[in-house]
Amino acid sequence: MSGEAHITGIAVEEASRGKGIGELLIIGSIELAMARDATVMSLEARVSNFVAQALYEKYGFLNVGIRKGYYTDNREDAVIMTTQPINDAAYRNKFNALKDAYRQRYGEIKMELP
Ligand SMILES: CC(C)(COP(=O)(O)OP(=O)(O)OC[C@H]1O[C@@H](n2cnc3c(N)ncnc32)[C@H](O)[C@@H]1OP(=O)(O)O)[C@@H](O)C(=O)NCCC(=O)NCCS
Repeated sequence: MSGEAHITGIAVEEASRGKGIGELLIIGSIELAMARDATVMSLEARVSNFVAQALYEKYGFLNVGIRKGYYTDNREDAVIMTTQPINDAAYRNKFNALKDAYRQRYGEIKMELP
């Protein structure tokens, strides 16, 4: 949608989880959304998926509602999560601080935006 970047899904193979790869995917998605002048970002996550929700909350996604029966496999509800405006100074400062912390923990971030 105009001005809104929507993440349809991210996943890391099971053996590689807990090593910062999911976080790097979110950092890359936010960088891409900023480069394309998106105003906000949104996504859905299973209500039971607390790991994914923790990752998204770390990057400023807030729980703004529920989509009842969103997932077709088991009719599980989805949590709708959106960011505050990502072009605001407040969000950019928070994002830059998170990227600095990521670099200190995992090393330099190298990515090429498509
Ligand atoms: C969600 C997923 C992508 C996270 O990827 P990952 O590479 O394991 O995550 P990272 O190592 O980058 O962790 C980043 C953050 O995620 C959260 N997180 C990761 N593992 C967690 C765990 N076991 N328990 C709680 N929070 C966790 C934390 O907020 C973590 O930040 P922290 O290390 O500062 O606490 C991964 O678990 C996955 O692929 N899950 C299956 C698919 C899925 O659920 N996708 C999301 C669909 S909406």
